[in-house]
Amino acid sequence: MAESDKKRRAKARRRLAKKRKQKQRVAVIFLIIIAILIVILFMMERNKNGKNAGAKQSAGTEIQDSSAATSVDTSAQSEPAESVKMLNLTVEQMHSGDLVLVNGSYAYDFDANAPTVSLVNIHDTQSFNYPVGKEDFEVADRIMPFLDQLVDACDSAVGSKMTGVASAYRSMEYQQSVWDEMAELYGEEYARSYVAIPGYSEHHTGLSVDMSIFYEDGSEGTFSESENAVWMNENSYHYGFIRRYAEDKVEVTGISNEAWHFRYVGIPHATYMATQNLCLEEYIDYLRANARADNPLSITCDSGTYEVFFTTETTIEEPEGEYTVSGNNVDGYIITVKTA
Ligand code: DAL
Ligand code: ZN
Repeated sequence: MAESDKKRRAKARRRLAKKRKQKQRVAVIFLIIIAILIVILFMMERNKNGKNAGAKQSAGTEIQDSSAATSVDTSAQSEPAESVKMLNLTVEQMHSGDLVLVNGSYAYDFDANAPTVSLVNIHDTQSFNYPVGKEDFEVADRIMPFLDQLVDACDSAVGSKMTGVASAYRSMEYQQSVWDEMAELYGEEYARSYVAIPGYSEHHTGLSVDMSIFYEDGSEGTFSESENAVWMNENSYHYGFIRRYAEDKVEVTGISNEAWHFRYVGIPHATYMATQNLCLEEYIDYLRANARADNPLSITCDSGTYEVFFTTETTIEEPEGEYTVSGNNVDGYIITVKTA
């Protein structure tokens, strides 16, 4: 009995041990499965984070790109579609420039012109050797190329080398001496019809010249009866000069017919005046009455196409491209814009 009890107990112990082992195996397998699941979940989570991180990075790039685009757009929106520059016009500018009217009513403003008018000696700077009445004659430097071309073209047209300059820039003192001499010789009334009162002469501008013909010995011929005068009357505008004192404009200019006196105003303005038979007084009046910024005068000439307008405003929109400003020496500004 004792023997069989022993056997039973031993058997029971073995069964118990077997069961314990089975439980341990199940527990180990369970733990392994749990561990595998944890690893899988961990890997999944890592992948998910990795993707998110990549997504965030590319999103960041997009944000950066889109923010750059936005900033461009924003800047484009915040700036005006076309930035308008303004131009301030000064009192000095009203009294200086190629179109200043200088006559018995409007004196030349030396001070206003001092910063922009630079005189050059004609004899020393001429591009070829043509006659000049006195070696110290001067003109505004900006008209020298046009004066050279005018003389050259006239000589070529009439087939001579006689065209030259008999008078040019005059200071107040010089004009006074011209006036005194004329008044003494012919009387004040006569002098007044041909010579401007000092301070009121276009010769002060450096933009006016008296043309003449000169013989080989240096003596002067009678220009007004020459072929040169006829040619210049008809063609000087191609070089920017107008015949300033014509027979049919004496009532307007207050000066008798002077076939010799030419005034530089620039090619477009000279072209319009010559072809429309307007003297400078009439042209200034015409622009004031008809040529405004929103309805400019269009002029096509040898040097291109221009839009010209008059304004009394001292602040205007700056024209685009090439333009010039001249005062009229009366009441406003003439803006000349090159459009072609
Ligand atoms: N001969 C012109 C008018 C002047 O003296 O200015
Ligand atoms: Zn003159």
